[in-house]
Amino acid sequence: MAHDTILLTNKVCCNFGGLKALSDLDLEIIENSIHSLIGPNGAGKTTAFNVISQNIKPTSGEIWFRGARIDGVKPHQVAEIGMSRTYQNIRLFANVTAIENILVGMHLHLRSTWWGSIFNTPATRADEKRAHDEALRLLEFVDLKGRGDIIARNLPYGDQRRLEIARALAAQPKLLLLDEPTAGMNPHEISDMMDFIRKVRDEVGVTILLIEHQMRIVMALSDKVTVLDHGQKIAEGLPKEVQGNPAVIEAYLGSGKLVPKKARDAARATLNA
Ligand SMILES: Nc1ncnc2c1ncn2[C@@H]1O[C@H](COP(=O)(O)OP(=O)(O)OP(=O)(O)O)[C@@H](O)[C@H]1O
Ligand SMILES: [Mg+2]
Repeated sequence: MAHDTILLTNKVCCNFGGLKALSDLDLEIIENSIHSLIGPNGAGKTTAFNVISQNIKPTSGEIWFRGARIDGVKPHQVAEIGMSRTYQNIRLFANVTAIENILVGMHLHLRSTWWGSIFNTPATRADEKRAHDEALRLLEFVDLKGRGDIIARNLPYGDQRRLEIARALAAQPKLLLLDEPTAGMNPHEISDMMDFIRKVRDEVGVTILLIEHQMRIVMALSDKVTVLDHGQKIAEGLPKEVQGNPAVIEAYLGSGKLVPKKARDAARATLNA
């Protein structure tokens, strides 16, 4: 494993009954890069996130993160060594405040012991103060300054997406997995999110693995792109290289089927958008 590789998967498979959701996936994520995972619906992108974060145990293969083999370990152990993720459908604690959501994400890094929290020792109070200050700093970083006391579900959609990222960042990850962070956003929110993703990489120094459907965003943000189709890697390279790849265009059209010219043009337009 080269010194600048943060995550490596080696022939990772994930079967659901007879369905091969991932077949022999080899991925190499370079530290401090923005690496995009793309492909049509059902290609296996979210499954790749699930096996990398150990939310699902891979059927076979190896996964290495920061020099340690992690396939088969518990998701919280993966989090402890520096991996955080967000979900395709927002998973916030909807009925608690924005700041409490961030504090939950931070709990891994609080030093306090359980008896400290029971007896409310000075050390615990100091930790709580530090955590609260850090949560406020994160809120400001994700442009939610002053909105910490709002119940999560009452925040606008774009704010909820950024809050979820703030919660993921609260665990101080080295690698952040973002599953369609711009889904359902308007063009203005999308452009803000793109700037924000760059800021997370450039200012916090977090490596980013991104699932994204809109090619415009993939082209603008990615250092490298991996394309999945039916659980298999069908292309990989610089954004420009994969965009023009005939196999990628075929995948977006639905492989093996006779496709009307109109649909073919629509798929090309998606890739060129
Ligand atoms: N927990 C599961 N149990 C059974 N089948 C699953 C499970 N998770 C995913 N699948 C199936 O695995 C395949 C890949 O799904 P996955 O969610 O990884 O696709 P995706 O690339 O993220 O698609 P989308 O772009 O629609 O989010 C699909 O056929 C899906 O139905
Ligand atoms: Mg998905």
